Amino acid sequence: MPVSPPRERFLGLLRAAVTEGTLAKLTLGKPGGPDPTLRNLFARPVQLRDGARVSLTWRHATREVTRNLPPSDAADLLAGLLGTEFLDAHLFTATGHHQFETNPGGRPRLRSLPPPPGLNPPAQGPHDRPKDHVLPGSTPWLQDLGVTNPDGRPRAGMAGKLSQIQHFAALLQPLLRTAFPPENAREREGATLEVIDAGSGKGYLTFTLATLLGPGFRVRGLEARPELVAFCNQVAARHGLRERLTFVAGRLDPARAETCDVLIALHACDTATDDALALGIRAGARLLVVAPCCQHELRPALEAPPGLGPVWRHGIFRERHAEFATDALRTLLLEWAGYATQVAEFTGAEHTAKNLLLSGLRQRRPGDAGKAEAVREFAAAYGIRTQALARHLGFDLTAIPAAPR
Ligand SMILES: C[S@@+](CC[C@H](N)C(=O)[O-])C[C@H]1O[C@@H](n2cnc3c(N)ncnc32)[C@H](O)[C@@H]1O
Repeated sequence: MPVSPPRERFLGLLRAAVTEGTLAKLTLGKPGGPDPTLRNLFARPVQLRDGARVSLTWRHATREVTRNLPPSDAADLLAGLLGTEFLDAHLFTATGHHQFETNPGGRPRLRSLPPPPGLNPPAQGPHDRPKDHVLPGSTPWLQDLGVTNPDGRPRAGMAGKLSQIQHFAALLQPLLRTAFPPENAREREGATLEVIDAGSGKGYLTFTLATLLGPGFRVRGLEARPELVAFCNQVAARHGLRERLTFVAGRLDPARAETCDVLIALHACDTATDDALALGIRAGARLLVVAPCCQHELRPALEAPPGLGPVWRHGIFRERHAEFATDALRTLLLEWAGYATQVAEFTGAEHTAKNLLLSGLRQRRPGDAGKAEAVREFAAAYGIRTQALARHLGFDLTAIPAAPR
């Protein structure tokens, strides 16, 4: 996948930050123009009576000159100055600190780091606020993953993917806050929490997790395809994320002992979702989040629940029941394993069988007898005698088990 040159990438980030309202501040330095008194140029967003503006201050040796410009005019002007009047730039946004530097040989370089703690763009007026995204299109790695252009907008054919990633980020954020309340951050100081993205694919959500969670968490993508693992590790390194974001090649093995505080699996096909859930439960993960797909396992053996016999000959109805029965049984098994579950729609724009987000927050001791009875009754209603997650957990669907394994 071609990667655009540093200046172009930096200007894309800058334009997106200025126009999307995620700019915190910008400094252009190393002046290279004709005015020997010019030291640097400082830019920050301001809210004036006429709306959002970018305030630009040219700092000379003995004076300052300030102009307030509409965001898109400011972005145009700044683009013209970088590489001509100024050779270095530091851009701070809601999601990153981006350093553009020109070495003595004239070679430009771009480095992206997480934003320093406590740095936020100022609040804007209700009319000027762009659509709020937990993960703005200007987030730098989205470009390298082929989702966005240098201006932070989706590439052709990737608008759906961007909105899916942003929707996932928006759904995930409150779950993470509940599982790891910010007020407990001090207690966790020094401890690194482990996050696994099972079946991480091209890493869209793995990068999202690493960005949302920040320092204090170590995110690992487990993925069967080594070429995707190599690509994702390269992108993570390019964005200075390697210390807390790693991709590992191999197949999921729920029997292997893993350290895991958060387990995510998005669109891990068929029983790979069960493998992922079992891995997280065995590891005692506090938060489990899965978006299942291709629920094939139960379909051939599913029996019509009472009253549904007359419609059971319709394949589509049987298929929908198989999806429902699989995911409903998973939530009941999670409840039995001690997790409080939630079910949400993953993306409102796409009504496909892949749009369910199941989450579980570890809250109770596992093995509640009432929960076990609910699992068994549900399984009996559909004639389900065995299922992948139940097998992993040692739950005999035809009898009440003692406690999860
Ligand atoms: C449909 S893709 C989803 C990728 C990613 N989670 C996303 O939503 O963008 C499923 C990925 O899971 C991987 N996968 C499926 N079964 C797996 C297994 N048992 N172990 C490891 N990876 C697996 C596949 O190679 C594929 O990249």
